[in-house]
This record gives sequence, C-alpha cells and structure tokens, in this order.
Amino acid sequence: MHTLRERNRFKLIGVRAEEQRASFGEDVAQGLSRTPKRLSYRFLYDAEGSRLFEAICALPEYYPTRVETGILRGHVDALGTSFGSALWFVELGSGSDRKARILIEGLLRRGKDVCYAPIDISRHALEKNCEALLETYPGLRIHAVAADYLEGLRHLKSESDGPMLVAWLGSSIGNLERDDAVAFVAQVRRWMNPTDRFLVGIDLRKDAAILERAYRDSQGVTERFIKNVLTRINRELGGHFDLESMEYEAPYDGEAGRVDMLLTSKRRQDVPIDGLSLVVHLDRGESIHAESSYKYSREEIAALGRQAGMKLEAQWMDVSGWFSVNLFAPT
Ligand code: TRP
Repeated sequence: MHTLRERNRFKLIGVRAEEQRASFGEDVAQGLSRTPKRLSYRFLYDAEGSRLFEAICALPEYYPTRVETGILRGHVDALGTSFGSALWFVELGSGSDRKARILIEGLLRRGKDVCYAPIDISRHALEKNCEALLETYPGLRIHAVAADYLEGLRHLKSESDGPMLVAWLGSSIGNLERDDAVAFVAQVRRWMNPTDRFLVGIDLRKDAAILERAYRDSQGVTERFIKNVLTRINRELGGHFDLESMEYEAPYDGEAGRVDMLLTSKRRQDVPIDGLSLVVHLDRGESIHAESSYKYSREEIAALGRQAGMKLEAQWMDVSGWFSVNLFAPT
C-alpha cells in the first residue's frame, strides 16, 4: 500500500456527516413502538448482513445482480461515448467490486483516463476494494471518500477536475419510498455539472411469481439476511427475539409495485428488549416491516427523472425486460 500511495494513485478521505444519524437503539425503540411496526433497512448491513447479502447476489432466484451485470457488460462501450477522454467514475456504495470492474475495464479499454471515486460509509470496505483494484489496473487513479453519499458528492464536486459519471447500481433506489427516491435523485442533481451523468440500475415491474421467488429463495438465505436484524437486536440491545417464532414473508403488491419484506409473528408474544427497557407486544399474524423493494415501469422511471430535474439520455434493458440501467443527464 505504501508504494501505491507514493505513486500518488490512491487517496482516501473521510467527510464527516453534518448531522449524526439516529443510533441503532433509538431507531429500534421508535420503530417497534409504532403501528405498523418497522425497522430501518440501514441496520441490515453489519458484517454478517453484508456477507449474507453477497450470498443473495449469487442465488439462482435473485436475478437482479446477474441481469444488471450483463447489461453493463453489453453497454459499457456506448456509455463511454457520453464522455471525453477523461472522467471521474463515482460509485455510490462499494459492496462487491464486480460491477465497478466491468465499468472501469470498459472505460480503460476505450483509452479513457479514469479516476475511480467510490463513496461508502464503510472505510474498511473502501480500503479492501481499492487495494485490489489498484493491483489489477496500473493505469487507474482512486479517490475514495468515506462519507454519506450526498456529503461525498458535495466533496467530489469541488475536488474533481473532469466530468463525473455517478453510478448507483443494484436497484438500491428501490429500497427508498417513491417520494424519497425523487428527493434523493434531486439532491444528486444539485451536485452535478451539465456534463456529468447519473447511471442508475432500476428493477422493473414484472410477474409476481418471479419477484416473490427472488425475495424468498428456496435456500432461505434472504430469510437469514432479514432475520439477522433480530439477531443484532438480541446481541447489541439485549433483545429476546425467538427467531423460530417469526415467519419471513415477501409478498408483492402489484398495484404499488412493491415487494415487502416482513417478519410475521407465528404466535401472540411479548418480547423484552432489556437495553431499551421495552417490551414489544406482537399479536399472532402481526408483522414487523423490515424493508421494501419498489419496482418501476419505464414511464415511472422517466417521470422520476423529470421530477428530479433530469432527462433520460439512454436506457438499457435485458431481452426479457426485467431490469434497466438508466443514464440520466441534468436538465
Ligand atoms: N436493492 C436490492 C433489491 O431491492 C437489494 C436488496 C436490498 C435486497 N435488500 C434486500 C435483496 C433484501 C434481497 C433481500 O433487490
């Protein structure tokens, strides 16, 4: 790592979030005291959660990762034409580096001068991924930012010396309520120059059976991923959830275009959480909402862009029309 730093190819900076987010405990106390009960998806990704999520991405039933990867591979050359000879490739979130590698490789192949700028809240994830990327691509510069996405973008807008390609993949947008998704894209828009582009992977509306299989796989990996948040509550907050008493469900509401990931109580029970001095009462059949995954139609994607001050410059899909990769330009 030292030699790499000396060659000036790698820089990692931390940007402090303006406001402190509510802590895990506060969020759990609030979410489990209201009706209907809910937990924030942000707490699904501890070390074990991140490991399980990687496993989800490799499942045969979970098509989004596979399909999105194929779309990126097929269109990275076309993507390159939206930029001149140099660009900053900014990635929001840096889980596995598979997709980043496809884009970096495709852009380098076209002779672009690329600076990769991943923004992630986890400094550890950034260090791990970046080290491997620097090894593979001798021509690559990296400017990693440990921060909230919007804080990181604001920092990069002043730091970058070329147009930015900001990528937000994996249909992470689907985990936001539709209004929040518009608000977030509008915020990203604020930190973009006219020559910058926003690349967003968005899962499309489709047959309920395909979606319900994707979010409730036969090996139970997704169930373990979602239930991991209860394990965290038990371990970190002194909770007494009996995981066996909670059933994992993932129904698709076709009208809303949304998969809901629910933990439903198999019996009437009271669950103490010692660290919060709280007893959570659950009726039989009562659900705790853990996460949603919204699906979009092509019209909804165009409308989302319009409402956020962006226009769709390109949209790529797989042959079955299951998933889309969208290139937005500021208007
Ligand atoms: N954003 C992705 C999606 O909605 C990944 C994801 C988030 C996910 N939470 C999940 C996938 C829970 C499976 C289960 O598909």
